[in-house]
Amino acid sequence: MLNKFYITTPIYYVNAAPHIGHSYTTIAADVLSRFKRRQLGPEHVHFLTGTDEHGQKIQKAADSAKLSAQSFVDQTSQKFRNLWQSLNVSYDDFIRTTESRHIKVVQKSLDILFKKGDIYEGKYEGLYCTPCETFWLEAQAVGGLCPDCQRPVERIVETNYFFKLSKYQDWLLKYLNEHPDFIKPASRYEETLRFLELNKLNDLCISCPKERLNWGIPLPFAPEHVTYVWFDALVNYISAVGEFDEKGEYHSDWWPAELHLMAKDILRQHTVYWPIMLHALNIDLPKAVFAHGWWMINEDKMSKSRGNVVNPLEMVEKFGLDAYRYFLLREVPFGLDGNFSEERIIKRYNSDLANDLGNLVYRTLTMVEKYFNGEIPDLVLSGSSKSVEDILAKIKHLPVRVNLSLDEINFSQALEAIWEVIGMANKHVEETKPWNLAKENKQEELKEFIRLLIDVIRAVAGQLEIFIPQTALSIQEQFKGDRVKKGNPLFPRIETKKK
Ligand code: ME8
Ligand code: MG
Repeated sequence: MLNKFYITTPIYYVNAAPHIGHSYTTIAADVLSRFKRRQLGPEHVHFLTGTDEHGQKIQKAADSAKLSAQSFVDQTSQKFRNLWQSLNVSYDDFIRTTESRHIKVVQKSLDILFKKGDIYEGKYEGLYCTPCETFWLEAQAVGGLCPDCQRPVERIVETNYFFKLSKYQDWLLKYLNEHPDFIKPASRYEETLRFLELNKLNDLCISCPKERLNWGIPLPFAPEHVTYVWFDALVNYISAVGEFDEKGEYHSDWWPAELHLMAKDILRQHTVYWPIMLHALNIDLPKAVFAHGWWMINEDKMSKSRGNVVNPLEMVEKFGLDAYRYFLLREVPFGLDGNFSEERIIKRYNSDLANDLGNLVYRTLTMVEKYFNGEIPDLVLSGSSKSVEDILAKIKHLPVRVNLSLDEINFSQALEAIWEVIGMANKHVEETKPWNLAKENKQEELKEFIRLLIDVIRAVAGQLEIFIPQTALSIQEQFKGDRVKKGNPLFPRIETKKK
């Protein structure tokens, strides 16, 4: 398909319920999908999310919940689906790694690579961190602790199967050098390049003996082993949208993905393992991988293993869905880390949503009711003064500014552009003092003034559709046809108790 947009989130582990970090990536993908649907047409966009359901830590979580692995993953996977529904996430497909469409493609991939000689049998002796599902070298696991999560690693000696990453290191380096846009933001690209220049890749252990772990996809050529969870998981991006034929050629209407979204914790899997797997399978690489930053709580990454997670639904209950979506997208430039706290949400809420946006809509509707009996003045505006001219120009350029920012995957910048217009309009109200125009019975000026505000609000709502669809809709419904229908304030101020 020409002009298509296939976007993915990570498939999240189902060992625990989703938290704010998961919702961040998924909401970001939702916004980009809505943006691209507007640009290319809905049938040209494919937004994939899903759940990663195999591996040791999920088996362990099922054990401690005293459930079979299957019914445990069924339950938790459903929690993710439910959350996406509650958060107004418009995914097109949800893949689970326990589905047969996925298992089939994983096994075929393994088969192809084994026959090609890119997977071989060997002895594995080394260190493994179960919570991170990651193998470590002696030198990396200082003091016997996982360098990522600081918990003890386990020593493992066993026969396993290995994927020849090392064979493709030079190819990958060359590819990255030729494709600087493959990894975003640029700092992550540099990081990956430096890593490959300074380290020799080890072949990747892609199996686990069934005695140690039964919960996984059996290797087709060695059924007493299951597939290493990362090899299994990455394949979801192709198993969801295509298949191999008998000759081992992969076919798909959607692949290659335009964008894989994730946080920086899983950058290397997506910029080293995954490109090499695809290349070895003779499949095109995705166009780009974007790794955003982490939400932190008191300087610590929010994560299940650290036990400091916040439930997104709780935030939605407290502040409303769109305030939550707005906060995540506006507070931190995409790519950087950010601190999560309710105080910060309240601050954003009161200033940007209650004072700026909510107030503009509410005061405008109030004036239309008061001065024009609820009728929207019907006229085409021309720049009758410098400030009117400026605002009209701002409205005109707003879509382009939002598009350019979103092309760069810069949500906060897009929102800033929208709020610039809102700010100008509010300032214009204060400067024009419409109550004086009314008193002096300057009908034409008042008409023009109100009409300008309405045009601003319509332009703003048109852009907000992508970010906070419910709010955009509720604004649009208040300005439908030639009359206004004033609703309640969109974002009533949150009063905080003074200390
Ligand atoms: O890694 N801040 O799953 P996972 C921002 N199953 N984003 C965060 C975050 C935080 N504090 N915490 C989590 C896995 N995320 C694998 C992925 S993909 C083929 C397999 C988000 O449940 C962010 O997108 O640990 C991060 O990359 C992802 O959740 C990790 O989710
Ligand atoms: Mg994780």
